[in-house]
Amino acid sequence: MTFDLARLLQERRGDRMALHTRLMNPQLARVLTTLGFDREYVRGEGCYLYDADGQRYLDLLSGFGVFALGRSHPVLKQALHDAIDADLPNMVQIDCALLPGLLAEALVARAHPGIERVVFCNSGTEAVEAAIKFARRATGRSRIVYCDHAFHGLSTGSLSLNGGADFRAGFGPLLPGTSAVPFGDIGALRRALSAKDVAAFVVEPIQGKGVHLAPEEYWQEAAELCRATGTLLVADEVQTGMGRTGQFFAYEHYGIAPDIITVSKALSGGYVPVGAMLCSDRVLRRVHSSIDRAMVHSSTFSRNQLAMVAGLATLQVFDDEDIVDRARRTGVAFEKALAPLVERHPLLHEVRGKGLMIGLVFGPPPAGPARRRFRAVEAIRTGLFSQLIVVPLFHRHRILTQVAADNVNVVKLLPPLVAGEDEVRAFVDALDDVLQSAMDGGLVMEVGRTVARSTLRRRAG
Ligand SMILES: Cc1ncc(COP(=O)(O)O)c(C=O)c1O
Repeated sequence: MTFDLARLLQERRGDRMALHTRLMNPQLARVLTTLGFDREYVRGEGCYLYDADGQRYLDLLSGFGVFALGRSHPVLKQALHDAIDADLPNMVQIDCALLPGLLAEALVARAHPGIERVVFCNSGTEAVEAAIKFARRATGRSRIVYCDHAFHGLSTGSLSLNGGADFRAGFGPLLPGTSAVPFGDIGALRRALSAKDVAAFVVEPIQGKGVHLAPEEYWQEAAELCRATGTLLVADEVQTGMGRTGQFFAYEHYGIAPDIITVSKALSGGYVPVGAMLCSDRVLRRVHSSIDRAMVHSSTFSRNQLAMVAGLATLQVFDDEDIVDRARRTGVAFEKALAPLVERHPLLHEVRGKGLMIGLVFGPPPAGPARRRFRAVEAIRTGLFSQLIVVPLFHRHRILTQVAADNVNVVKLLPPLVAGEDEVRAFVDALDDVLQSAMDGGLVMEVGRTVARSTLRRRAG
């Protein structure tokens, strides 16, 4: 019997939750069923997902930001089909293939002039691991400074730079010589770097967990402090890069020139795992300093040709469809359309972010029954209120969003960068409706019913 994908999917379609529960992470399956998010998606196109019943969902999560070009972009699909059909001599390993060189060239061309070299890898966390290693070797120092609330991935080195206790708990001891400073606090950074023994300050231009921004003036000072103390400035652009914030790299908003940049997520348009660490010639030459050290840092799949083709095709579409400026314009449209909701709904305290990385910050109204209800929900679990937004956005309006971090009332939007006016309107109308119900008190019951129904379904199943 030959492999028949369509038949396999058809024959086994009823098994997906059971397989995850039995063989993979059962708690993920449990959360999804409890909240009623366990839809069977069968197709994705542009900004939308489609389930087995033909229902359409607006995807404002875009696979945690990988589908910058939307799902199933025809140019990417064609490029990957072409690459497979060409029987390319993939991963010979003992060679210098053309495609990785071309993608390196295209990435360097988009960075500032101090960035001259590219190291490919397979994910965001590996790009950060590379940054840690290269910064240590280049400076001869071992200490790394990171920020409270930071997220740089979950492999052991990146986890050592994680600013949230929950992620770290039970996995220690992590990398020695790492320490956190409050994000945006220049005095704390000055103190942390003052002994001139820190290899790198690793920082997200906008923090993904909670969508936190530092004051504009922080960045120039932070860059100057790094320069003065011989610390390499690492901009982790895994989430903020590739146009997400309305500039190709988010550090461009602040006029700084990091020594190392990490990218991943949208680089392959969502099709093939890929990551890259970009650095100066000087940094790279400290690692690959002699012929004996040609292989001291690499990974088997890192320059695989499907990832490289997807990366090149993605960057071509970025140019052809003016993706970065589109993200900026749609970001402004979101900002304008959401501003009246902040005025009208006392539960929506703030909208923050840049471009299409948007945080909606919720909090208690100043007085009245809605304030009491908010406090009652938060007494059960800090940050629970944001689920009262995310769950009905999904069930009533079929819009997929996410809570921005544990224990905070921030809902994060990471729409595909090809989203436009229709998607802005659909989301803003839906949020308006959900917030109205939150003020009226209907939401707690509605979400309670969803959870109860799902729990009963799970027990019966
Ligand atoms: C800023 C940042 N760095 C690193 C990572 C880790 O990337 P990956 O999940 O591909 O390992 C993420 C993932 O969300 C991220 O947002």
